[in-house]
Amino acid sequence: IVVDKGGHRHFMLKEIMDQPQAMTAALKDRADFANGRPADVMQLERVVLIGCGTSLHAAQVGRHYIERLAGIPAEAESASEFRYRDPIIGPRTLVVSIGQSGETADTVAAMHLAREKGATLITICNAEESQAARVADGALYMHAGLEVGVASTKTFVASLTILQLLSVYLAETTRRLVDQMARGPGLIGEVLAEANLYSSLARRIGHYDNFLFLGRGANAAIASEGALKLKEISYIHAEGYPAGEMKHGPIALIDPEMCTVALAPRDDLRDKTLSNIKEVKARGGLVVAVLTKGDDEAASEVDFPLFIPQAPDLLMPLVTTVPLQLLSYYIALLRGCDVDQPRNLAKSVTVE
Ligand code: G6P
Repeated sequence: IVVDKGGHRHFMLKEIMDQPQAMTAALKDRADFANGRPADVMQLERVVLIGCGTSLHAAQVGRHYIERLAGIPAEAESASEFRYRDPIIGPRTLVVSIGQSGETADTVAAMHLAREKGATLITICNAEESQAARVADGALYMHAGLEVGVASTKTFVASLTILQLLSVYLAETTRRLVDQMARGPGLIGEVLAEANLYSSLARRIGHYDNFLFLGRGANAAIASEGALKLKEISYIHAEGYPAGEMKHGPIALIDPEMCTVALAPRDDLRDKTLSNIKEVKARGGLVVAVLTKGDDEAASEVDFPLFIPQAPDLLMPLVTTVPLQLLSYYIALLRGCDVDQPRNLAKSVTVE
């Protein structure tokens, strides 16, 4: 395997830039199931998605996909919590573990528990021949290529892509969804083409010491992932919150020293998030918002709009992920942090 930065300053930036290909690779040869859902799928009662770190956030997005597309109850949980509960699962539960490495100790232990309880167990992972792949009944590989940056980026996008595929596979009508998915790499590429905007925004907001990331629906998990990326690589305190929960606590933190990053693309929850944005502005907070291109009304409410292309709901979490990665990257760069190997963190955590 050739490991080079492809002309970029860091592996992380290369891996962010590689995301259209990562999505294409995850989709490749897999989107050919337009014939409706297989009969054994009808027996599934529940889907439980588990993972740690970024993979937990993928699980949280996956839950939305499974429920919305396949109409099967789904839940997402940290593998480190799941393993010490006494989860009610059985043969009609599908447990899906997600992991870049397939070696995270908590995830592997949680999979053993699921197996003992008789669940059907599959794993979504990047590393082939990993422990996760050995424990599972089946593995869906990401084929994202080696990810060197400690903070996961392209494997997050690959995880979401496979979770979409899985949800579509479990759904009844698939063709339209498969067609939509094919647009993903191009939409991500459109955001990446504007990477230099994020570098200049980083110079304007990189000195803030507190960030609040807000989103709703699947974008609540992306807000958590945005906060995690910023914490991991720039050591800035950041919280990810479902926007609707803001009034139950985080709003007390809003003042001119707090930078809020809101995800408010045009979808059925955009108006709700916009009203959260107005609440932040009314309290003197600074607002950066990820908005759909052309949404001038929303843009006029915020300090720094970040525009993304109009995307189908299914693809929205993949597209909103990218601006947050780029923002974290350029802020970390500005602060002189070791982007690829942040302090105290390991690429994979193989002990508890
Ligand atoms: C570590 C890494 C994270 C990763 C997490 C889960 O904390 O630093 O980037 O998301 O482990 O790893 P996995 O291999 O299970 O996805």
